[in-house]
Amino acid sequence: MDKQAKIYIAGHKGMVGSAIWRALEKKGYQHLVGLSSKELDLKNQLEVQRFFKHERPAIVIDAAARVGGIMANNNYPYPFLMDNLIIQNNLIDSSLQNGVEKFIFLGSSCIYPKLAPQPLREDVLLSGSLEPTNQWYALAKITGVKACEAIRKQYGKDFVSLMPTNLYGPYDNFDLETSHVLPAMIRKFHEAKINGNLPVTLWGTGAPLREFLHVNDMADAVCFALENTFTDNLYNVGTGKDLTIKSLAELIQKITGHQGEIIWDSSKPDGTPRKLLDVSKMKEAGWQATIGLEQGIQETYTWFLENVDRIKQVKLN
Ligand SMILES: NC(=O)c1ccc[n+]([C@@H]2O[C@H](COP(=O)([O-])OP(=O)(O)OC[C@H]3O[C@@H](n4cnc5c(N)ncnc54)[C@H](OP(=O)(O)O)[C@@H]3O)[C@@H](O)[C@H]2O)c1
Repeated sequence: MDKQAKIYIAGHKGMVGSAIWRALEKKGYQHLVGLSSKELDLKNQLEVQRFFKHERPAIVIDAAARVGGIMANNNYPYPFLMDNLIIQNNLIDSSLQNGVEKFIFLGSSCIYPKLAPQPLREDVLLSGSLEPTNQWYALAKITGVKACEAIRKQYGKDFVSLMPTNLYGPYDNFDLETSHVLPAMIRKFHEAKINGNLPVTLWGTGAPLREFLHVNDMADAVCFALENTFTDNLYNVGTGKDLTIKSLAELIQKITGHQGEIIWDSSKPDGTPRKLLDVSKMKEAGWQATIGLEQGIQETYTWFLENVDRIKQVKLN
């Protein structure tokens, strides 16, 4: 891959986009382009078209989206569906219209049916009903995958979709209402510890099984996708290993040094019973994760402590 190629990273200030930016910079890519949502609102079709005509990137990485955990998805179904549809439609269509050679679309493992056989293979897409709490977000992402697939089929362009499992790492959202489970736990255990080891209340029963990937591994997978031509349109990106939410809580409790009680609020929803990606397709293509969960959480907690006064807390309205 030409290190001078102009690469536009949509969402370069986000957890994933910023990790991709750092990874590409480290690899020597010299022509990276990124604009914040204040500089370019990706919901504004005219502005996005104007930007593409002016910048003419060769490669586009779509890491821009409205992202959130169960509560945010459940309470704000319309923006989770519509904002994501509009953002990705504008990026995908402007890329097609302006000669983009390679487009990497980031989706999410929630695109797969709630009760599909585990681990989730790429070919179970659209074989059953979605998890109701995040179906809005999932439907938008499925549309993005299909738009890239359609472009690949009709125009033979290298538009590829990567489906990451749950991600975590530096620059995550640590707001207790809108964040994902892992950063929420880091913050809850940390705050309970510094307030005298107060009990920590967590949602659900702790029984569901989940998989977590460090965002630097995700960025590495994106670099791999950039530097290689895939034969297919959809690839899962994960570790291929899962653990119960209870085990995750105990691991984070140990790493943060919290010594109080954990209370499970089973009146709150658990979500999908198990969500583990089958990562064999990506492995066959030549990529696999390298950062272990304990090491990754330890590094994230160190980052959290160093940045505790300015952690990101996304509020929805
Ligand atoms: N986090 C996870 O666990 C996870 C898991 C699977 C997949 N993913 C996928 O990875 C991608 C990035 O997620 P993330 O966790 O990095 O999210 P994030 O930290 O919330 O970042 C999202 C980025 O999107 C940008 N954005 C949102 N609305 C925009 C708009 N209207 N105009 C311009 N930019 C806009 C934001 O820009 P500003 O900061 O400038 O506002 C932000 O930089 C998403 O596609 C997500 O579905 C994430």
